[in-house]
Amino acid sequence: MEENKKIIFSGAQPSGKLSIGNYIGALKNWVDLQDEYNCFYCVVDMHAITVKQDPAELRRRTLETLAIYMACGIDPEKVTLFVQSHVPAHAELSWVLGCSTMFGELSRMTQFKDKSKKYSQNINAGLFTYPVLMAADILLYNADLVPVGIDQKQHIELARNIAERFNGQYSPTFTVPEPYITKAGAKIMSLADPTKKMSKSDPNPNANINLLDTKDEIIKKFKKAVTDSDALVKYDVDRPGIANLMTIYSVFSGKTFDEIEREFEGKGYGDFKLAVGEACADSLSVIRDRFDALIKDKAYLESVMKEGSEKAARVAYKTLSKVYRKVGFVPPVR
Ligand code: TRP
Repeated sequence: MEENKKIIFSGAQPSGKLSIGNYIGALKNWVDLQDEYNCFYCVVDMHAITVKQDPAELRRRTLETLAIYMACGIDPEKVTLFVQSHVPAHAELSWVLGCSTMFGELSRMTQFKDKSKKYSQNINAGLFTYPVLMAADILLYNADLVPVGIDQKQHIELARNIAERFNGQYSPTFTVPEPYITKAGAKIMSLADPTKKMSKSDPNPNANINLLDTKDEIIKKFKKAVTDSDALVKYDVDRPGIANLMTIYSVFSGKTFDEIEREFEGKGYGDFKLAVGEACADSLSVIRDRFDALIKDKAYLESVMKEGSEKAARVAYKTLSKVYRKVGFVPPVR
């Protein structure tokens, strides 16, 4: 284990369908961090069941999520890549932390309030204590940094409070984690309505580009992307459609906004959209080919999960046994 590197923990729900928004906003970032940090990346299937899931779908999507991550460049030799439910310490620490988290604190979580509205028929206790499990994820590995989107910042703040409270009540135990918020520039908007974030759950199939879309689908969707009537390829935050396409093109081609503006001087949106589609499709075809190979190789995926959860468990149980000792549990006789 590399002791001198800072520790990163991040989790993502097992959602088989990931868009280029997820890739640019989060995944690419995870890949970029893996050399410099000691990274723990976790597919959080236990968080997923706070809303209703079809068991067969959940199983399939958990494997697909692992495969997509690896296809995007997450290297299981460099990071600890694992499935949350394979390391029971997450649930175990979550219980202890839940006993020093206040009802009032959890009631203030905006994600809980939003989800209670959205899933008003299923406001279960897990939905309420979701942030405690998330704190356990992070604190088990003594993560210094937690890369997340801005919507998760409140949960990280709660994890910090829980860590500080425990450290104060017992003795220094947990590293107090910092959120590592991805840059606002990397937010990708819907192709159908560029004032809205690109979302994998958007019912309009033309709104997002799925990482596993074919070249034809990608080109077609970019052709239909909503832009203004100026037909001028120039970056301007007040023209969200064209700004969004320029951001996407810039990520996949490596070109700066200046270079893009020069490339399309005197040309219309038709040429530009085609170029965006091609640059995107070329990058994604590499990911898709790797995904296709990985998802067929069940034995390899299983070996990655096994090694990942063993590596994670070694670290997690060190922390958990410290916690159990500090709160006064009698050590089990072995
Ligand atoms: N709640 C996070 C999300 O929905 C996922 C998550 C679970 C997570 N545990 C985590 C993220 C720990 C960072 C660290 O995006």
